[in-house]
Amino acid sequence: MRPLRTIPVALPGRSYDIVVGQGARDALAGLLAVRRFEAQSAQTPSAAVAASGVVIVADERVAEIHLATLLSALPPSPLVLRFPSGEASKSLSTVARLYDELAAARTDRDAVLITFGGGVAGDLGGFVAATWMRGIAYIQAPTTLEAAIDASIGGKTGVNHAAAKNLIGAFHQPIGVIIDTDFLHTLPARDFAAGLAESVKHAAIRDASFLEWQRTQAGQILDRADDVLLELIARNCEIKARVVEQDEREAGLRAILNYGHTIGHALEHLLEYELRHGECVSLGIVAENELAVRRGLLDRAVAGQLAGLLVRFGLPTRLPCALRIEDVIDRCRADKKTRGGMLNFVLLRGLADPIRVADVSPAEIHAVLSTIAPR
Ligand code: GLY
Repeated sequence: MRPLRTIPVALPGRSYDIVVGQGARDALAGLLAVRRFEAQSAQTPSAAVAASGVVIVADERVAEIHLATLLSALPPSPLVLRFPSGEASKSLSTVARLYDELAAARTDRDAVLITFGGGVAGDLGGFVAATWMRGIAYIQAPTTLEAAIDASIGGKTGVNHAAAKNLIGAFHQPIGVIIDTDFLHTLPARDFAAGLAESVKHAAIRDASFLEWQRTQAGQILDRADDVLLELIARNCEIKARVVEQDEREAGLRAILNYGHTIGHALEHLLEYELRHGECVSLGIVAENELAVRRGLLDRAVAGQLAGLLVRFGLPTRLPCALRIEDVIDRCRADKKTRGGMLNFVLLRGLADPIRVADVSPAEIHAVLSTIAPR
C-alpha cells in the first residue's frame, strides 16, 4: 500500500479533504460517488448529458501526458475540455469558450468539474465551476507543485484582466483536492523549483522548523524522492488549510499568504509572464525582506537565510532585465490588495512573525528594488 495523507479543510457547510500521495487519483471515484448520492438524495433533476456527469477542464499539455492515467480512475465518458497551456488562457475569452462547450453538452447543475493542470487550470476551471448555473461542484486535481501546495487550496478562483492579475474571480470551495504525486514527476525542473517559492513562503510566515527541514532536505526535495515529496506537500497543505479555516474570505489572517506577492505580482505582469509565478514570488520575497530590514523590522541574517534557501532551490534573486522603477510602483498600486491608494505589504518581523503594513512609500520601494536589479 502506497502511503496517502489526508488533510482536512474544515469550513462551515463546505468542509473537504486534501488527499496527497502516489495514486491519490484512486480517491476520485469515491468522491464522485458520494457527490452523486448527495445530489440524488436532494432530488435535484439529474439529466447531465456527459454520460458520467463529470467534466474535466484540462491544460492541453498536461492532458497529452497524463489524461489517460486520470481517465483510468474515473467513470467512463467524461466531457473533456482542453485549453492551451499558459497564463494567457486565464482570461474571460477562455471562460466564454468553456461556457459554450458546457452549453453544447447540456451540462446541468449535478455535473462535477475536475480541474486538471497547474494554477491556470485550477483558477480558470474553478471560476467556470463557480459561475456555471450559479455554481457547480468541482474537484481540484493539481499537477504542478505550485498548484498542489497553494492555488488548489482555499477556494480562490478567477482569471486575469488587462489591468492586473486575478482581478476577476469568486470564492468557491472545491469538494476535494486530489494531489497525485505521480503527476509531479514529469514537471520540468524549472516549474518544480517555482513551486518551492510558495513552500519557502509558507515556512517563512508560519513555521520556522519547516524552513529548517527544507534547508536540510533540499537535495532530496529537488530529487523529488517520494517520501520527501509527500512530507513537503502535506506540510504545506497543513499550513495553507489552517490559515484558510481561520479566514476563508481574506478579511485578515489569510492576507499573510500574500507575503512576497505585492512586488511579485507586479513583476509577473511587467515581465509579461515570461518568468514563472514562483520565480516572481522569489524576487518579491527578497525585495520585501529588504524593505523589512530597512524598516528595522527584520534581522538581516534571517533575510539572508531565506535568500540562501531560494538560491539553493534554483530560484532567482535578481531580475533578468532592468525594469522602470515607476512602472513597478504603478503595478503595485494596481494590485487588488491596494486599498484607498495605499500600498499594502506583508512584512516579516522574524520567522513565522508576519505583519501587514499599509504605509509603504514609493521611495521605499524604489530603494529596495535596487537590491534585485540585474547585475
Ligand atoms: N494564494 C494565496 C491565497 O490563497 O490566499
